[in-house]
Amino acid sequence: MEILQIRGGRRLEGSLRVQGAKNSVLPILAASLVSGAVSVIENCPALRDVEASAAILRHLGCTLRREGSTLIVDSGPVDRCDVPDDLMREMRSSVLFLGAVLARTGCASLSLPGGCELGPRPIDLHLSGLRAMGAEIAQEGSDLRCRTAGLRGCEIQLTIPSVGATENLMLAACRAEGTTVIRNAAREPEIVDLQGFLRAMGASVQGAGSATVVVEGSRPLTDCCHAVLGDRIAAATYLAAAAASGGDVEVRGVSYRHLSTVTGIFSEAGCHVCSEPDSVRLRSRGRLRGVGPVHTAPYPGFPTDAQAPVMAALAGSLGETVFVENIFSDRYRHVRELRRLGADIRTEGRVAVVHGVPYLHGAQVRATDLRGGAGLVVAALAAVGESEVAGLEHIDRGYEEIETVLAALGADIRRKESIRKDPDLYREGGDARG
Ligand code: EPZ
Repeated sequence: MEILQIRGGRRLEGSLRVQGAKNSVLPILAASLVSGAVSVIENCPALRDVEASAAILRHLGCTLRREGSTLIVDSGPVDRCDVPDDLMREMRSSVLFLGAVLARTGCASLSLPGGCELGPRPIDLHLSGLRAMGAEIAQEGSDLRCRTAGLRGCEIQLTIPSVGATENLMLAACRAEGTTVIRNAAREPEIVDLQGFLRAMGASVQGAGSATVVVEGSRPLTDCCHAVLGDRIAAATYLAAAAASGGDVEVRGVSYRHLSTVTGIFSEAGCHVCSEPDSVRLRSRGRLRGVGPVHTAPYPGFPTDAQAPVMAALAGSLGETVFVENIFSDRYRHVRELRRLGADIRTEGRVAVVHGVPYLHGAQVRATDLRGGAGLVVAALAAVGESEVAGLEHIDRGYEEIETVLAALGADIRRKESIRKDPDLYREGGDARG
């Protein structure tokens, strides 16, 4: 069992180029199936979730080749429309293969995606949108059997601006007859990146980044090349680590506009933040101060994915900060572990109240989900003494070599095999998938 061993209290300093965005590359990999051509995907991060998507693509018949940070997918040879349960369970975003496989082959046989670590995560909007486009979908237990004689464009009004549903419907719409209009679409930068990829392969997609996305279907799709957007959540995590450690860190390769709600919190907490169009630098000016309430919200609001790392940074602040988690009903599992590091945080339902403490102390903690795990790393970097963070299978889903990135900034952090056998701290797996 691998752990991160962190000796906290080192000031982080330096500059890093952030990895490609996990939440962009996953829909893009599903989209690569739709064209039946060759997709060259640059700035593709090496992540567990990317490996899981690659395994699904291979199972469906695609050939894949990695050259450094470029992944080349040839979806020409696709010859099946099923995704086995064990591959579906690897990650939540396997659900994006529903729209992609159906659009490409006219049928799809798969199971509900795994994981519910953030509370219930239904896919009703994915299913009703695809049904409106002419898909017949039968659900038996967790098995989904879908077929269509041909998808048709239509108007779809989402009741929630779901990121995954917007993406799934965009993928399906590329091969539908006629025009699809998705209203109340998610406006996340990753949706705009997906639009860029789909356009590169010849699809007609407009409006991403606004609440209305329009896809003219049935355009001929071809080979394409696309560079994945920089990861705003990984960037937010490294800025949180800088803020928590009293550091001075520049993150390159990410748009400052995509981070404005996060950098706004750190400015309010007393940090000096300066931004260029594709980089952000954060300089600490001493101990952080508590800030006004942090409400998570769909983009352009404060991202739920940054909630845990920012909370971890504020655990050692002067004063109090209230968090309100509006996207997922159970996204405070890291709080119990932060308390082991000495944090004073109380939760009730969707609200968490952080009373800053003068210092955190080293402890053995366990990640139970991806961003919660990143939050534990941030807190451990600021803590006095040595910490061990277990549950790296979660962190590795979304962060490319997190220990290498942080060590280059001066952190005392190493990945090692644990010799401890504490069954509670170091049990494998769990049910957490993103
Ligand atoms: C995406 O998940 C991200 N994952 C998540 O990133 C992120 O937390 C989330 O968007 C919100 O920003 C990827 O992009 C791969 P949603 P997704 O559909 O698409 C409800 C991370 O840490 N809902 O926008 O699953 C749902 O229950 C992760 O990187 C329905 O009710 O999120 C939730 O409350 C984890 N019915 C809300 O909408 C549906 O059919 C938002 O979910 C779909 C969603």
